[in-house]
Amino acid sequence: MTTQTTLSDWLPNIEARRGPTYLAIAQALAEDIRSGNLSPGTRMPTHRELAYQLGVTVGTVSRSYAEATRLGLIDGEVGRGTFVRRRPSRDMGEIARDPAGPNGVNLGLNYPPMSQAETDAFSETLAAMAGDRSLGQLLEYTAHCGSARHRHAGARWLKTLGVPGDPERTVVTSGAQNGMLITFTALTEPGETVLVDKLTFPGMVALANLLNLRLTPVEFDEHGPLPEALERAAVETGARAYYTMPTIHNPTNVVIPLRRRREIAEIAKRRDLVIVEDDIYRFLAPDAPETLASLAPDNTIFVASAAKQLAPGLRIGAIDTPQRHLPRIEAAMRTSTWMATPAMAEVLARWVEDGTAEHLGEIKRAEMIERQRIAKRALTGFDYHTHPASMHVWLRLPEAWRGRDPVAAAAHRGVTISAGEVFAAGAGAGRRHIRISVGNPKDRHSLERGLSVVAATLTELPFADPAIV
Ligand SMILES: Cc1ncc(COP(=O)(O)O)c(C=O)c1O
Repeated sequence: MTTQTTLSDWLPNIEARRGPTYLAIAQALAEDIRSGNLSPGTRMPTHRELAYQLGVTVGTVSRSYAEATRLGLIDGEVGRGTFVRRRPSRDMGEIARDPAGPNGVNLGLNYPPMSQAETDAFSETLAAMAGDRSLGQLLEYTAHCGSARHRHAGARWLKTLGVPGDPERTVVTSGAQNGMLITFTALTEPGETVLVDKLTFPGMVALANLLNLRLTPVEFDEHGPLPEALERAAVETGARAYYTMPTIHNPTNVVIPLRRRREIAEIAKRRDLVIVEDDIYRFLAPDAPETLASLAPDNTIFVASAAKQLAPGLRIGAIDTPQRHLPRIEAAMRTSTWMATPAMAEVLARWVEDGTAEHLGEIKRAEMIERQRIAKRALTGFDYHTHPASMHVWLRLPEAWRGRDPVAAAAHRGVTISAGEVFAAGAGAGRRHIRISVGNPKDRHSLERGLSVVAATLTELPFADPAIV
């Protein structure tokens, strides 16, 4: 995207809007950004210019810009001007990188810690595959759900994650997001309601936007979704599907206890609800209670991915599905990517067969345990919820902090964190929290540095905008 630094002659039409003028300006700004009238990087008029053009006070424009900054629409620096914010790049290579500057640390992304072990295993396996006379088979079109060999290996892998593991129920996917996409494409119609936890994985929210699904948030406590709230929501909305992450929930880190899992499984059976069980962090919690897929196998689609356990770039995963959904899932797979890449499915198959998959997962788990210890030391005195091997920390903000303010303050010091509200499925959730990803920094030293910046930032009081009186 090109850098646009031209002075914008933006002039919002606020006459027809109700409510305070400063909010009307912020709303008009939001709409113009959404519609593309204002592109990222555009320089906004100064407070004084816009106030003059609109015939309002400079203070009103300052308040509207402050509101727009709070909403993440614009940002600016004293002396440089105010600009329409650039959307974070969706490119993995871009977002995985640490922010610019000598102290830049990205604690905003649940990217798994990587070591030489993955590269060595990959290199060895590719070399072995290169010498294999049947290599050419991997260049053919294959069955949409994966070749028999790859479905077999996928089922074997799913078994290590607490799923009965049946090749006939296994579909090889291009990672969890693709698994979710084909599942919801197969299960739902546009406009339909899907139940989700009130704080949920943003990839699910994006998927709902893409497929035109309505999300209904389900009330959630320290043990996960409230069974009575889940059942009520299912009855009231008539939803046929519920998406959740029972083991090391993203972002809250909750591991749903067995008793509640049983209750959820019973509700699913009673209400003929399909649970989409996204358990991609389960390898980090080998002692986690039984999967919903084993408690309610006819009502659960289990989503697994190699992204966190092995390497995100493999783009490979698997789902376990009741056979009645297979025809539609197969059709969705055909339409989305025809089939997962056989060469990567072969890498996974070999790693499952020779124990590399479990070994690499174990290395990551050990690293995460160390990193969580570092987090515990760095965040002493803060109120947070975590799991001993989780890739993130869910931290409750000190009283003075709210919403995206800590994200902006930490970014100012070169550290990226995620605002809790990014995970909200319903209005208002997550505003009192941030998610700190501890797996992404390239080493423990960077993690320590990033965490100390976050701790120092939150210990101070937020900077109040002097323009607001
Ligand atoms: C809960 C959850 N599900 C799915 C994904 C996406 O996984 P994949 O990279 O396999 O598409 C993520 C990635 O962060 C995640 O946190």
